[in-house]
Amino acid sequence: MTDLNPQAKQMADESMVRNLRAQARAIWPQESGLFRRYALRADARILDAGCGPGEGSSRVAELFPRAEVLGVDIIDASLDLARSRYSALAPRLRFEHQSIFELREADRTFDLVLCRHVIHSIPHPERVLAELARVTRPGGYLHLIPEDYGMLHFQRGALDPRDFWYQVPRSFGAATGTDLFIGRNTFSILSAMKLEQITVDYVVVDTLRVPRETFAAIIEAWRDGYSDAIGEITPISRNDAVAYFDQMIANIRDPRGYAVWMVPVVSARVPLSR
Ligand SMILES: C[S@@+](CC[C@H](N)C(=O)[O-])C[C@H]1O[C@@H](n2cnc3c(N)ncnc32)[C@H](O)[C@@H]1O
Repeated sequence: MTDLNPQAKQMADESMVRNLRAQARAIWPQESGLFRRYALRADARILDAGCGPGEGSSRVAELFPRAEVLGVDIIDASLDLARSRYSALAPRLRFEHQSIFELREADRTFDLVLCRHVIHSIPHPERVLAELARVTRPGGYLHLIPEDYGMLHFQRGALDPRDFWYQVPRSFGAATGTDLFIGRNTFSILSAMKLEQITVDYVVVDTLRVPRETFAAIIEAWRDGYSDAIGEITPISRNDAVAYFDQMIANIRDPRGYAVWMVPVVSARVPLSR
């Protein structure tokens, strides 16, 4: 499975657990209101594809207190952590080892399928999206957070973060066979799949809407989890990567500073006629 999960090391790292916690704290307050539009029945069946330690699965299970939620992932340590953290919500919320490239679920099973912070990190995202649509019932929805590393903006200091964000995602993506700009490409993929009612919204993670320490924790976790790999597979050295990240963190922590990460939230409906 390693070839289909080129970020396996980073995804299993301790820094990813704190990253996903900080990301959920930053993003969920703006994201949660978007779920109303799916008009789910109270006992909806929901899949969280690539659930990690269950930040999204648990929040959606709390948002829909009668829904049945299944989180799937291929990292057993994340699944174990999710099970122990959210045992109070079991068995309505459960976690299983399944690959989103080849789910064990029957066609047309779920009313809603979440896939948050995943498809930028894997090759062949269109195969995964087709698999997610397969298990969604006609009239059900996909709810995606496809990250896009051209949508992060920081002020310049001694270093210019624009140089980092120009160079690193293209080289990292080329080396891992992934699209780190998939946020802007997801609409086209879903259109080609002939899905309906495609929407693209943005959660704005910036220094006005999100506590500075929460935003800073995301960048710290990226620094801790990704600097080695950046040094190995991009033209930016490990030390330079750390210096860029440290400057971005200082920018966020500066009470007079401003920084923003635009996080796309993309949804689409599986046609009734499918
Ligand atoms: C950045 S984490 C996002 C976790 C979670 N969705 C959230 O919002 O907090 C990406 C997750 O996708 C998982 N993943 C990658 N490839 C996968 C696959 N083929 N099947 C299932 N999960 C996969 C990783 O193991 C990792 O836990």
